[in-house]
Amino acid sequence: MIIAIDGPAAAGKGTLARSLAKRLGLAYLDTGLLYRAVGQKAQRQGLTPEEAARSLTAADLDQPGLRSEEAGQAASKVAAIQEVRQALLAFQRRFAAHPPPPAQGAVLDGRDIGTVVCPEASVKLFVTASAEARAQRRHKELRERGESSIYARVLEEMRARDARDQERAVAPLIPAADATVLDTTDLDADQALDVALALIASKNPA
Ligand code: CDP
Repeated sequence: MIIAIDGPAAAGKGTLARSLAKRLGLAYLDTGLLYRAVGQKAQRQGLTPEEAARSLTAADLDQPGLRSEEAGQAASKVAAIQEVRQALLAFQRRFAAHPPPPAQGAVLDGRDIGTVVCPEASVKLFVTASAEARAQRRHKELRERGESSIYARVLEEMRARDARDQERAVAPLIPAADATVLDTTDLDADQALDVALALIASKNPA
């Protein structure tokens, strides 16, 4: 079973993907982390984004700072480059087809999982929420991590990143034609998980 979860920044994709993976015994891949690592590696090591993508290692995915908004912005800039996306595609598809044992399937979250990486996924969710709700969540998350954060700035930066992700020519952020849209504006994490589990059950009757 492959579950594809796409959506804009801070919509709750990661939390939902992690809970679904745990509940269903599936492996989880946070594909945004790959783009964050490419952006940060290019900046810190003075490489082109293409070089950073081609030379990406497990150690690059374990660097401090990858969850910062700065790394998110860097990620969305390198993510618009076709060669960067191409370099990361094989790894993502391999993970989906051969998840680390004993998992019998995988949950992947990102922007183009249902449209490009795993168009054959058995379940596709497009997780979204109002820009204000998403900025509020990201603001809270940053504060809880001890980072300084100004709500208005988070909202502005998130809007810029969403626009860049939606307007790019390669693999833009759009729901797959067969995706179910899950709006989490008024749902907490447990409620979003329940809705997703019900949908998965309806698509895979036991
Ligand atoms: O956690 P958040 O939703 O803020 O971002 P993320 O999922 O870590 O993704 C960071 C950036 O990577 C996004 O803004 C996209 O530009 C890019 N990305 C992408 O283009 N394709 C993916 N499959 C995943 C992320």
